[in-house]
Amino acid sequence: MTAERAISTRNDNALSSSLTKLRQKLPQMTRMSRHALSVIKHSTPRKLFNLVLVELEYRLRRTTVRGHPYIIIVDPLNVCNLRCPLCPTGTGDLERKQQRMEWETFTRTIDEVAPYAYEINLHNWGESLLHPRIFDMIEYVNSKNIATNMSTNFNRASDDKIDNLIKSGLEYLILSIDGITQDTYVKYRVRGNVNKVLGNVEKLIRRRKELGSRTPFIEWQFIVFEHNAHELEAAREMAYEMGVDRFRVIPPGIPFAAKEPDKLKDDWFIKDDEGRVEAFQGDVPTSCFYLYRSMTTNPDGGTAPCCIVYGDKNDFGDFKTESLDDIWNNQKYQSARSLFKKGGRAVEPTICDGCHIFKQHGQPAPSAPRDVIPVKSVQ
Ligand SMILES: C[S@@+](CC[C@H](N)C(=O)[O-])C[C@H]1O[C@@H](n2cnc3c(N)ncnc32)[C@H](O)[C@@H]1O
Ligand code: SF4
Ligand code: SF4
Repeated sequence: MTAERAISTRNDNALSSSLTKLRQKLPQMTRMSRHALSVIKHSTPRKLFNLVLVELEYRLRRTTVRGHPYIIIVDPLNVCNLRCPLCPTGTGDLERKQQRMEWETFTRTIDEVAPYAYEINLHNWGESLLHPRIFDMIEYVNSKNIATNMSTNFNRASDDKIDNLIKSGLEYLILSIDGITQDTYVKYRVRGNVNKVLGNVEKLIRRRKELGSRTPFIEWQFIVFEHNAHELEAAREMAYEMGVDRFRVIPPGIPFAAKEPDKLKDDWFIKDDEGRVEAFQGDVPTSCFYLYRSMTTNPDGGTAPCCIVYGDKNDFGDFKTESLDDIWNNQKYQSARSLFKKGGRAVEPTICDGCHIFKQHGQPAPSAPRDVIPVKSVQ
């Protein structure tokens, strides 16, 4: 190889590695910009003080905290019309009763977190558009000066629902569309119909214009698997031609409690030139930010430490019977936070004991589950 060729190859490699790094960071950067906007739009002195406190306590790796979570996931229901093969709802492995959240559980949760919350994500393990009171939920959150965000597969969107998405004041809508031809799309979005979805996107954008509304901000989210990577650029082009506001590419994850994670990765994830699977590496060097910034409430009122875990046996609390303050510094939370502190020692076993997403320094509780394999992208 000539010197020029070697330099050019090295430059190409450097460029491609920088692009890969940027591609990996993009989901995080776009998510950060969304959070930043929520802070700008929905601040109060109390919320701002809390935000600063939370960020300080997170960096100091405190096990008992005075701050409160400010990004809350409230799952309206864990029922879905699709059967995505890497989603525990799609595969029937949720290990929690499938149900709609009752209105009282919803308002109780929102009222508890409202003094601190900047953002409520109205989705987690189901198709939120199937909840009969989803638009009331959005309006209720709006009335508390909190940003609203929702992700949908957008297969079941009648004209009325499309209008209500706009009129309810939803701020941010994520459309999960991982392909533009039916053959490709339906491999992951099993039972879905991409032409129907694309028709719904067109209607939504047309109606948003006709109603003179700037919201919801519409994001097309494309999860890149081996089977759909070839449609990625065409999807991006189509999204912007249709008038979508943001096209976001994210890597796939697999269910937290998957029994055969390597096989699933092998079946679905993109391989590199040598056939290795490109997967999430784990052991992020910080403390787990979910344990400081966020809380997840399931349709039955059970609270999980993060949006990644799902079975009710992993719950840290219950909003039907406990307050936010009862839950937020209970023994489970203290134990989980102590895992990220040098010399920390958990006293009660939790699902976090065996989690490899963030780097742990402390000792898990005796009899803790040691080897949970949580391969899911941290975004
Ligand atoms: C479980 S879904 C619930 C919301 C809605 N049903 C949907 O699919 O958009 C929550 C988010 O996880 C995303 N998701 C689904 N399967 C995924 C996977 N294997 N890896 C990463 N994200 C995934 C969805 O696209 C969606 O944005
Ligand atoms: S559409 Fe969403 S909730 Fe439904 S199975 Fe797929 S990922 Fe899960
Ligand atoms: S399971 Fe892992 S990511 Fe979730 S809260 Fe626990 S340590 Fe954090």
